[in-house]
Amino acid sequence: MPEAPTILVTGAAGNLGSEVVDRLEARGARVRCLVRRQAGVRAGAEPVVGDLTDPTIVRAALVGVDAVFLLWPLIDAASAHGLIAELAAAAPHVVYLSSTAVDDQAVRQSDPIAQVHADMEALLRDAGLRPVVLRSDTLASNARGWAAQLRAGDVVAGPDMARTAVVDERDVADAAVAVLLADRGQPVHGPYVLTGPEVLSRADQVDRLGVALRRRLRFQAIPADLARSRMLADGRPERLVEALIAASARRPESGRITDHVERLTGRPAGTFAQWAMDHAAEFS
Ligand SMILES: NC(=O)c1ccc[n+]([C@@H]2O[C@H](COP(=O)([O-])OP(=O)(O)OC[C@H]3O[C@@H](n4cnc5c(N)ncnc54)[C@H](OP(=O)(O)O)[C@@H]3O)[C@@H](O)[C@H]2O)c1
Repeated sequence: MPEAPTILVTGAAGNLGSEVVDRLEARGARVRCLVRRQAGVRAGAEPVVGDLTDPTIVRAALVGVDAVFLLWPLIDAASAHGLIAELAAAAPHVVYLSSTAVDDQAVRQSDPIAQVHADMEALLRDAGLRPVVLRSDTLASNARGWAAQLRAGDVVAGPDMARTAVVDERDVADAAVAVLLADRGQPVHGPYVLTGPEVLSRADQVDRLGVALRRRLRFQAIPADLARSRMLADGRPERLVEALIAASARRPESGRITDHVERLTGRPAGTFAQWAMDHAAEFS
């Protein structure tokens, strides 16, 4: 029997990364997790504790690794050069989690979050890594950010965003695992554009969450200045807050729905309504 592959998962304690880790373990892979705190590591996975911007940590994390699930949770790519150099030296199979907001035709992207993903895709390609790029739509799990407001009342207040085909992070994790465990001899495809089955506004999402919670909930769009001061008061880093405000103001609506989840996983993408049902307990 061939030996189980060793897969490095970055962002392994996060909403998406933790789903990827669970699936890889269930498929018998050896999983190494790059995390900032050991407490975030699932039982059975090997932790490497440190920062993605630290080349020494990345080098240690890459020893003996066959494939990497790479995400880049920072707002610019300037601090990624050390990581890219280490990846280029180790040359694993790289699966990069990008964003559907990346516009291949644009010289500059609509906002800093779309820009950092476009820049990361280019850095990985230019380093000769031939990454498989998964461009994810808005993750359903972002709705967890509304839990505190929904424990206090029936209104979710925040900056509005253009409508997109919100995708269940469990589908993105399934797609990522399919690519991570695929035979490396297969030709590289992509980018894959991973969407859910419906284009939803924030208000649509809050509505569906209300159905799952059996409550009448409402989304209230608030102006940029108020959104900025609330996010800063919540302790979010200033650059991230500015990037989120810019995405709210400038990112165009995307009506695009693809079958790429199904192509990679063999089954259609789930709805946000189902996500809300499955996670209702987290909001009470
Ligand atoms: N959310 C979306 O709608 C969306 C859409 C398209 C693409 N993406 C991409 O997907 C990524 C994952 O999304 P998510 O919702 O799973 O995010 P998340 O829950 O915030 O998870 C991000 C993880 O990255 C870790 N991290 C942050 N900065 C780090 C650093 N400098 N070094 C090492 N680890 C670091 C965090 O560690 P701690 O646990 O220590 O904070 C966290 O566990 C995003 O960062 C983004 O690049 C997201």
